[in-house]
Amino acid sequence: MFSVRIERLTSSLIRELLALTQQPDVISFAGGLPAREAMPPLDLRELPASLSQYGTTDGEPELRETIARQLTGIGLRVPPERVLITSGSQQGLDLVTKLFIDPDTPVAVEAPSYLAALQAFRFFGARMLELPLTPQGIDPQQLRELIRRERPAFVYLIPTFQNPSGVCYAESHRAGVAEVLRETGVALLEDEPYRELMYEAVDRTPLSGRLGGAPWMYMGSFSKTGIPGLRIGFIAASDDIHPHLVRIKQCTDLHTNRIGQWWCNRFLLDGDYLAHLDRLRAFYREKRDAMQAGLERHLGELATWSQPHGGLFFWVRLRQEVDERALLERALARKVAFMPGGAFYAHPPAFQGQMRLNFSLSTPEQIDRGLRMLGEVIRAYHAEAEARRSWPVAHVR
Ligand SMILES: Cc1ncc(COP(=O)(O)O)c(C=O)c1O
Repeated sequence: MFSVRIERLTSSLIRELLALTQQPDVISFAGGLPAREAMPPLDLRELPASLSQYGTTDGEPELRETIARQLTGIGLRVPPERVLITSGSQQGLDLVTKLFIDPDTPVAVEAPSYLAALQAFRFFGARMLELPLTPQGIDPQQLRELIRRERPAFVYLIPTFQNPSGVCYAESHRAGVAEVLRETGVALLEDEPYRELMYEAVDRTPLSGRLGGAPWMYMGSFSKTGIPGLRIGFIAASDDIHPHLVRIKQCTDLHTNRIGQWWCNRFLLDGDYLAHLDRLRAFYREKRDAMQAGLERHLGELATWSQPHGGLFFWVRLRQEVDERALLERALARKVAFMPGGAFYAHPPAFQGQMRLNFSLSTPEQIDRGLRMLGEVIRAYHAEAEARRSWPVAHVR
């Protein structure tokens, strides 16, 4: 009855387990939502009545101009005509998927990567090729070899405060990856919803601005700095790609909501915008610091991690392997939740025992309490596993 691709939409046990985190007394490090109290006010009093009418597929000209100016300011020179406003950057992922992916199309992704992007690519049948992420980014040489071997349709990267790992690519890796893409002419899809959530100054120059004539797509979002419920994001692209994205969007939703676009442009041009970003960074930095301190206190001897310089997540690797689902069940029984790391891979990794921990929704006190419980759950798990391993020997004696 349905299309063949519907069979690729699998429901996940993890998702069902995580539904339990909606209970009010759970300390959840599992989600990735921005904090409601950090969002700017939704003031629509001066909304022009003319916005009740249909709008253009490309988006409101004023917002496209503001975004093009900002992009040019960060090193990505692009005219407003090549900025397409989307319903969140998630729609950009959908449009790119429809433009590039047929069953078995090779696509290069970071390992780990953004779950909903992997789902979108998988839905259309992509053959995903993983590039291991290091604390400096993917290795340019590995990318070169993968391109030589497989010639992917595009390379999907989240170079700045990556979801889920928190990694921000080092300048050496930004330059190296850009050089490989320039040489090979393979398209880049760069996804940067977290770039403004920066807690220490680090290099964030977009790769898309360094590609010479190679094709590129650069996605941004106002979900983390503005109001995610308005669903406003954008995708800027090289001139060989942009017109196709516009035509696909025409088939998808005609255009993004005009009210959100109007609000967003005012938000970006408001004299308070930069001060708002500073407040936002201070607000999340305090939570990030609380999570770093809590991890040191409660998981110090159990796990390794790197403190992220931005974004909303810690990526934690346990020293000993666990069954991630079993561990999550035990954590939920203690009313603390995390996101199992295996979910963020296109292909399940050999090692099980990674977690993504989000810090944006909990208070520093909840972060400390939740991590203390998590430490206890992990210790109990290891102790039981150890007892099981030694049981046969004890029994023989
Ligand atoms: C890496 C990444 N890309 C895209 C998105 C989608 O964001 P939105 O559609 O709200 O702009 C998210 C949301 O969390 C994300 O983490």
